Amino acid sequence: MSVAVQIVPTPEDLASTAANIFASQIQEYPDSVLGLATGSTPVDTYARLADLYENGLSFEDVTTFNLDEYVGLRQGDPQSYHSFMTTHLFDQVDLDPSRTHMPDGDSEDLDEACEEYERLLQDAGGIDLQLLGIGSNGHIAFNEPGCAEDSLTRVVDLAPETVAANSRFFDSEDDVPGQAITAGIATILSADKILLLAYGENKAEAVCQALAGEITSDCPASFLQKHPDCTFLLDAKAAELLTEQ
Ligand code: F6R
Repeated sequence: MSVAVQIVPTPEDLASTAANIFASQIQEYPDSVLGLATGSTPVDTYARLADLYENGLSFEDVTTFNLDEYVGLRQGDPQSYHSFMTTHLFDQVDLDPSRTHMPDGDSEDLDEACEEYERLLQDAGGIDLQLLGIGSNGHIAFNEPGCAEDSLTRVVDLAPETVAANSRFFDSEDDVPGQAITAGIATILSADKILLLAYGENKAEAVCQALAGEITSDCPASFLQKHPDCTFLLDAKAAELLTEQ
Protein backbone atom coordinates (compact mmCIF):
# COMPACT_ATOMS: atom_id res chain seq x y z
CA MET A 1 0.00 0.00 0.00
CA SER A 2 1.40 3.36 -0.83
CA VAL A 3 0.08 6.87 -0.90
CA ALA A 4 -0.40 8.42 -4.35
CA VAL A 5 1.21 11.83 -4.82
CA GLN A 6 0.08 14.47 -7.28
CA ILE A 7 2.12 17.66 -7.55
CA VAL A 8 0.71 20.79 -9.19
CA PRO A 9 2.58 24.07 -9.66
CA THR A 10 0.60 26.54 -7.52
CA PRO A 11 -1.98 26.75 -4.71
CA GLU A 12 -4.50 27.92 -7.34
CA ASP A 13 -3.94 24.72 -9.33
CA LEU A 14 -4.29 22.77 -6.10
CA ALA A 15 -7.71 24.30 -5.38
CA SER A 16 -9.09 23.71 -8.87
CA THR A 17 -7.73 20.14 -9.00
CA ALA A 18 -9.19 19.32 -5.58
CA ALA A 19 -12.55 20.88 -6.46
CA ASN A 20 -12.67 18.84 -9.66
CA ILE A 21 -11.99 15.64 -7.72
CA PHE A 22 -14.89 16.45 -5.37
CA ALA A 23 -17.12 17.46 -8.28
CA SER A 24 -16.44 14.14 -10.05
CA GLN A 25 -17.30 12.27 -6.86
CA ILE A 26 -20.61 14.16 -6.55
CA GLN A 27 -21.45 13.78 -10.25
CA GLU A 28 -20.87 10.04 -10.12
CA TYR A 29 -22.51 9.55 -6.71
CA PRO A 30 -24.91 12.45 -5.99
CA ASP A 31 -25.66 11.06 -2.51
CA SER A 32 -21.99 10.96 -1.50
CA VAL A 33 -20.91 11.32 2.11
CA LEU A 34 -18.04 13.82 2.21
CA GLY A 35 -15.60 14.44 5.03
CA LEU A 36 -14.60 18.09 5.23
CA ALA A 37 -11.83 20.14 6.82
CA THR A 38 -11.38 23.75 7.88
CA GLY A 39 -8.26 25.94 8.04
CA SER A 40 -6.66 28.00 5.28
CA THR A 41 -5.88 25.08 3.00
CA PRO A 42 -9.38 24.23 1.71
CA VAL A 43 -10.71 27.80 1.45
CA ASP A 44 -9.99 28.17 -2.27
CA THR A 45 -11.16 24.62 -2.95
CA TYR A 46 -14.52 25.53 -1.41
CA ALA A 47 -14.59 28.72 -3.52
CA ARG A 48 -14.02 26.63 -6.67
CA LEU A 49 -16.79 24.25 -5.57
CA ALA A 50 -19.08 27.26 -5.16
CA ASP A 51 -18.17 28.27 -8.75
CA LEU A 52 -19.00 24.76 -9.93
CA TYR A 53 -22.34 24.98 -8.11
CA GLU A 54 -23.06 28.23 -10.00
CA ASN A 55 -22.36 26.23 -13.16
CA GLY A 56 -24.82 23.45 -12.34
CA LEU A 57 -23.18 21.09 -9.81
CA SER A 58 -25.81 20.19 -7.21
CA PHE A 59 -25.03 19.24 -3.61
CA GLU A 60 -28.64 18.64 -2.65
CA ASP A 61 -28.26 14.92 -1.92
CA VAL A 62 -24.75 15.18 -0.45
CA THR A 63 -24.09 14.54 3.25
CA THR A 64 -21.11 16.13 5.01
CA PHE A 65 -19.21 15.50 8.22
CA ASN A 66 -16.53 17.90 9.40
CA LEU A 67 -13.42 16.67 11.12
CA ASP A 68 -13.31 18.91 14.12
CA GLU A 69 -14.66 21.78 16.19
CA TYR A 70 -13.28 23.83 19.05
CA VAL A 71 -14.57 23.09 22.54
CA GLY A 72 -16.44 25.89 24.24
CA LEU A 73 -17.39 28.05 21.27
CA ARG A 74 -21.08 28.47 20.44
CA GLN A 75 -22.06 27.33 16.94
CA GLY A 76 -22.64 30.93 15.91
CA ASP A 77 -19.36 32.20 17.32
CA PRO A 78 -17.52 33.78 14.39
CA GLN A 79 -14.39 31.73 15.24
CA SER A 80 -16.20 28.39 15.36
CA TYR A 81 -15.58 25.92 12.60
CA HIS A 82 -19.34 25.85 12.16
CA SER A 83 -19.24 29.54 11.19
CA PHE A 84 -16.23 28.89 8.95
CA MET A 85 -18.08 26.18 7.04
CA THR A 86 -21.24 28.26 6.81
CA THR A 87 -19.28 31.15 5.29
CA HIS A 88 -17.05 29.20 2.93
CA LEU A 89 -19.31 26.38 1.76
CA PHE A 90 -22.67 25.72 3.37
CA ASP A 91 -24.13 29.13 2.41
CA GLN A 92 -22.53 29.04 -1.04
CA VAL A 93 -24.11 25.83 -2.38
CA ASP A 94 -27.41 23.94 -2.14
CA LEU A 95 -26.36 21.60 0.69
CA ASP A 96 -29.32 20.54 2.85
CA PRO A 97 -28.51 21.88 6.37
CA SER A 98 -29.94 18.72 7.91
CA ARG A 99 -27.26 16.72 6.08
CA THR A 100 -24.29 18.82 7.27
CA HIS A 101 -22.68 17.60 10.48
CA MET A 102 -20.16 19.23 12.80
CA PRO A 103 -18.97 17.90 16.18
CA ASP A 104 -20.79 19.74 18.98
CA GLY A 105 -17.97 21.43 20.88
CA ASP A 106 -20.50 23.33 22.96
CA SER A 107 -22.23 20.22 24.32
CA GLU A 108 -22.71 19.86 28.09
CA ASP A 109 -21.67 16.23 27.70
CA LEU A 110 -18.70 16.27 25.35
CA ASP A 111 -17.98 12.53 25.59
CA GLU A 112 -21.57 11.73 24.66
CA ALA A 113 -21.35 14.25 21.78
CA CYS A 114 -18.27 12.37 20.48
CA GLU A 115 -19.99 8.99 20.69
CA GLU A 116 -23.06 10.43 18.99
CA TYR A 117 -20.89 11.77 16.16
CA GLU A 118 -19.37 8.34 15.52
CA ARG A 119 -22.89 6.84 15.55
CA LEU A 120 -24.13 9.41 13.03
CA LEU A 121 -21.16 8.67 10.79
CA GLN A 122 -21.84 4.96 10.90
CA ASP A 123 -25.57 5.48 10.28
CA ALA A 124 -24.66 7.51 7.17
CA GLY A 125 -22.61 4.55 5.90
CA GLY A 126 -19.19 6.12 6.50
CA ILE A 127 -17.24 8.69 4.51
CA ASP A 128 -16.88 8.16 0.75
CA LEU A 129 -14.27 10.90 0.21
CA GLN A 130 -12.38 12.60 3.04
CA LEU A 131 -10.64 15.95 2.58
CA LEU A 132 -7.67 16.61 4.87
CA GLY A 133 -5.15 19.35 5.52
CA ILE A 134 -1.95 18.76 7.49
CA GLY A 135 -0.42 20.71 10.33
CA SER A 136 3.23 21.69 10.14
CA ASN A 137 3.71 19.28 13.08
CA GLY A 138 2.15 16.47 11.01
CA HIS A 139 -1.26 16.54 12.65
CA ILE A 140 -4.38 15.53 10.74
CA ALA A 141 -7.66 16.91 12.04
CA PHE A 142 -6.60 17.66 15.64
CA ASN A 143 -4.79 14.37 16.10
CA GLU A 144 -1.58 15.78 17.47
CA PRO A 145 1.79 13.97 17.73
CA GLY A 146 1.50 11.10 20.22
CA CYS A 147 -2.11 10.25 19.27
CA ALA A 148 -3.25 6.64 19.09
CA GLU A 149 -3.74 4.88 15.78
CA ASP A 150 -7.01 3.35 17.02
CA SER A 151 -8.42 6.69 18.23
CA LEU A 152 -12.03 7.63 17.46
CA THR A 153 -13.84 10.95 17.80
CA ARG A 154 -12.87 12.44 21.15
CA VAL A 155 -11.88 15.56 23.07
CA VAL A 156 -8.21 16.49 22.72
CA ASP A 157 -5.84 19.18 23.95
CA LEU A 158 -4.34 21.24 21.15
CA ALA A 159 -0.54 21.18 20.88
CA PRO A 160 1.10 24.52 21.73
CA GLU A 161 2.29 24.87 18.11
CA THR A 162 -1.30 24.37 16.88
CA VAL A 163 -2.59 27.03 19.29
CA ALA A 164 0.15 29.36 17.99
CA ALA A 165 -0.61 28.55 14.33
CA ASN A 166 -4.36 29.01 14.75
CA SER A 167 -4.02 32.24 16.74
CA ARG A 168 -3.97 34.07 13.39
CA PHE A 169 -7.76 33.64 13.31
CA PHE A 170 -8.21 35.08 16.85
CA ASP A 171 -7.44 38.41 18.55
CA SER A 172 -4.66 36.79 20.56
CA GLU A 173 -3.17 33.39 21.36
CA ASP A 174 -4.98 33.48 24.72
CA ASP A 175 -8.32 33.48 22.89
CA VAL A 176 -7.64 30.19 21.07
CA PRO A 177 -9.56 27.37 22.78
CA GLY A 178 -7.17 24.83 24.27
CA GLN A 179 -9.34 21.86 23.36
CA ALA A 180 -11.28 20.53 20.42
CA ILE A 181 -13.42 17.59 19.44
CA THR A 182 -11.67 15.75 16.64
CA ALA A 183 -12.33 12.73 14.49
CA GLY A 184 -9.74 10.10 15.43
CA ILE A 185 -7.06 8.44 13.33
CA ALA A 186 -9.20 5.30 13.07
CA THR A 187 -12.21 7.45 12.12
CA ILE A 188 -10.22 9.06 9.31
CA LEU A 189 -8.71 5.79 8.11
CA SER A 190 -12.21 4.29 7.81
CA ALA A 191 -13.02 6.64 4.88
CA ASP A 192 -13.16 4.91 1.47
CA LYS A 193 -10.93 7.54 -0.16
CA ILE A 194 -8.75 10.28 1.30
CA LEU A 195 -7.45 13.43 -0.37
CA LEU A 196 -4.88 15.40 1.64
CA LEU A 197 -4.06 18.91 0.43
CA ALA A 198 -0.94 20.88 1.30
CA TYR A 199 0.65 23.98 -0.12
CA GLY A 200 3.56 26.15 0.90
CA GLU A 201 7.05 25.48 2.18
CA ASN A 202 5.97 25.42 5.83
CA LYS A 203 4.23 22.10 5.11
CA ALA A 204 7.15 20.52 3.23
CA GLU A 205 8.79 18.88 6.25
CA ALA A 206 5.52 17.38 7.55
CA VAL A 207 4.60 16.14 4.06
CA CYS A 208 8.01 14.50 3.68
CA GLN A 209 7.77 12.84 7.12
CA ALA A 210 4.23 11.64 6.40
CA LEU A 211 5.08 10.10 3.04
CA ALA A 212 8.68 9.01 3.30
CA GLY A 213 9.22 8.62 7.04
CA GLU A 214 8.35 5.65 9.23
CA ILE A 215 4.75 5.19 10.35
CA THR A 216 4.73 6.72 13.80
CA SER A 217 2.45 8.75 16.03
CA ASP A 218 5.22 11.37 16.09
CA CYS A 219 3.84 12.30 12.67
CA PRO A 220 0.12 11.43 12.77
CA ALA A 221 -0.25 11.90 9.00
CA SER A 222 2.17 8.99 8.50
CA PHE A 223 -0.70 6.65 9.51
CA LEU A 224 -2.18 7.51 6.09
CA GLN A 225 0.46 5.21 4.57
CA LYS A 226 -1.78 2.38 5.83
CA HIS A 227 -4.79 3.56 3.82
CA PRO A 228 -5.55 1.73 0.54
CA ASP A 229 -6.75 4.80 -1.39
CA CYS A 230 -5.07 7.97 -0.19
CA THR A 231 -3.71 10.78 -2.39
CA PHE A 232 -1.55 13.71 -1.34
CA LEU A 233 -2.23 16.66 -3.65
CA LEU A 234 0.63 19.13 -3.21
CA ASP A 235 1.86 22.35 -4.70
CA ALA A 236 5.50 22.54 -5.74
CA LYS A 237 6.60 24.17 -2.47
CA ALA A 238 4.96 21.62 -0.20
CA ALA A 239 6.57 18.88 -2.32
CA GLU A 240 10.04 20.41 -2.45
CA LEU A 241 11.67 18.02 0.05
CA LEU A 242 10.15 15.03 -1.78
CA THR A 243 11.49 16.06 -5.14
CA GLU A 244 14.93 16.66 -3.61
CA GLN A 245 15.12 13.02 -2.46
C1 F6R B 1 -8.96 21.55 10.27
C2 F6R B 1 -7.98 20.48 10.45
C3 F6R B 1 -6.54 20.77 10.64
C4 F6R B 1 -5.95 21.59 9.48
C5 F6R B 1 -4.45 21.83 9.70
C6 F6R B 1 -3.88 22.71 8.61
O1 F6R B 1 -10.25 21.01 10.13
O2 F6R B 1 -8.38 19.36 10.47
O3 F6R B 1 -5.84 19.56 10.76
O4 F6R B 1 -6.15 20.88 8.28
O5 F6R B 1 -4.25 22.42 10.94
O6 F6R B 1 -4.42 23.98 8.75
P1 F6R B 1 -4.21 25.09 7.62
O7 F6R B 1 -4.97 24.61 6.44
O8 F6R B 1 -4.83 26.34 8.20
O9 F6R B 1 -2.76 25.20 7.38
